[in-house]
Amino acid sequence: MKNGKLRSQKWFGRTGQDGFIHRAWLKAEGFSDAVFDNRPVIGIANSWSELNNCNSHLRQVAEAVKRGVLMAGGLPLEFPVISLGEVLMKPTAMMFRNLMSMDVEECIRANPLDGVVLLCGCDKTTPAMIMGAASADVPAVVVTGGPMLRGMWRDQELGSGTDVWKYWDLLRAGRISDEEWCEIESCISRSHGHCMVMGTASTMASVAEALGMTLPGCAAIPAPDSRRMALAEESGRRIVEMAREDLRPTKVLTREAFENAIRVDMAIGGSTNAIIHLVAMAGRVGIDLPLELFDAISRQTPFIANVRPSGKYLMEDFFYAGGIPAVMRELLTLLHRDALTVTGHSVEENVRSARVHKEDVILPLERALYPEGGTVVLRGNLAPNGAVLKQTAASPNLLRHAGRAVVFESIDDLRARIDAPDLEVDASRVLVLKNAGPRGAPGMPEWGQLPIPAKLLRQGVTDMVRISDARMSGTSYGTVALHVDPESALGGTLALVENGDTIELDVERRALNLAVPDEELARRRARWTPPEAHYARGYGRLFLDHVTQAHEGCDFDFLRHRS
Ligand code: FES
Repeated sequence: MKNGKLRSQKWFGRTGQDGFIHRAWLKAEGFSDAVFDNRPVIGIANSWSELNNCNSHLRQVAEAVKRGVLMAGGLPLEFPVISLGEVLMKPTAMMFRNLMSMDVEECIRANPLDGVVLLCGCDKTTPAMIMGAASADVPAVVVTGGPMLRGMWRDQELGSGTDVWKYWDLLRAGRISDEEWCEIESCISRSHGHCMVMGTASTMASVAEALGMTLPGCAAIPAPDSRRMALAEESGRRIVEMAREDLRPTKVLTREAFENAIRVDMAIGGSTNAIIHLVAMAGRVGIDLPLELFDAISRQTPFIANVRPSGKYLMEDFFYAGGIPAVMRELLTLLHRDALTVTGHSVEENVRSARVHKEDVILPLERALYPEGGTVVLRGNLAPNGAVLKQTAASPNLLRHAGRAVVFESIDDLRARIDAPDLEVDASRVLVLKNAGPRGAPGMPEWGQLPIPAKLLRQGVTDMVRISDARMSGTSYGTVALHVDPESALGGTLALVENGDTIELDVERRALNLAVPDEELARRRARWTPPEAHYARGYGRLFLDHVTQAHEGCDFDFLRHRS
């Protein structure tokens, strides 16, 4: 706001032909002169789509936001942005996160907006919204769509994704029938909303709240709960005030805010994907988040949210237990308490009165489920720029393991051979997948939770060490090292692993190594040839030319903040 005039007045407050055109054309929507009187114009960036079930209720949420904007004296104007549905988009929604962020950024910047409410939910839509809004730097508040109600099959509670992987293995092991598998398909997604375990969507909603980009309590309210609409209305009221206060994302997205978000992510056993998204979001405001910072915070943060896949309960239980405000209240001594949030108040002011209502869902620090945070960062000759592993969702007996590699050169190779009766594999082996990274796959899909070979499932094996340059769904579990960097398609050491090589994982020492002499690796490197590029034109080409590696957040190099 300059001299009491809002940004939108550059469009609507002008005399002459330009002002005439801006007002006259908007009047086609039935607005009177009153809306051009220097009242905040609030964009509602809506990632609603019927191609994205997680966000398919966001039109109703938008109506509640509009109500709030009008109540506070603003003018709400809803606009669509690309939506990224995690399960339908191929090769992976991750390939389009940066595209969505550009859509959001340019829509905000190009239009007469004084503030924007960002409606999102499914995994990539939340980081993409924040990345775009951070780059545009117009006052912004996030409203996520909320998690689904818990799934129910007979008397069993079902969690999105997590229980799909579990029951799929039981089906492949012959322990449930085809009929039961079909029954489960109709019981797991019972309402609107995003996946209701602490998967990537719930994690990113929690991260957005911990960053201070949502009103307190936003992340965990179930999508069908009337309180989500009430929070949306309140967010609409608040963004009008934020526009007048000029409370822009760069004032909220500080280093302290990012450290708070990493802390909360570790305490809730959040998705490994959060690391990539946090690095990318921070990059948009010129803040570096080295992987060591994540590991340092992980070492000092107890895991206290007993939610699947690392724990027992579902997001609905997490909401009843107090949600993110209760977690942050519990963590308060470890947080930057003065960090500013979209409420205009500090973190401490926001969560001081929060309480835990179910201590088996959100545990006190002194009774933590695990003494450290969910995700650890591994280094070694197999991952010179880092790899990640969710230790809270891994098998304790595999956290220190050496085994011989069973190598799959690509996802097609894996699909063709993983269940072959003659696959040379036992439970001590390490499954390795190559060419699943940002450029190799492309888009770094969630292939990292490699399936356990069927013949081992039948022997009762439920976990093995698995390594790749892919990501995995936040709903997944197992002893899985991911995001190996540099990726194999760029000639990282992962590209040089051969069947039978010994791989050593030591989570306590944060080590991931290939036990092959340097001279032999040099010989293999000299023979290595890069795979053919997947795209010659279009967005795919732009992606391949500019996507960065996992430790840089997989953002496009030209989208990072430049001072
Ligand atoms: Fe959208 Fe899981 S598929 S959140």
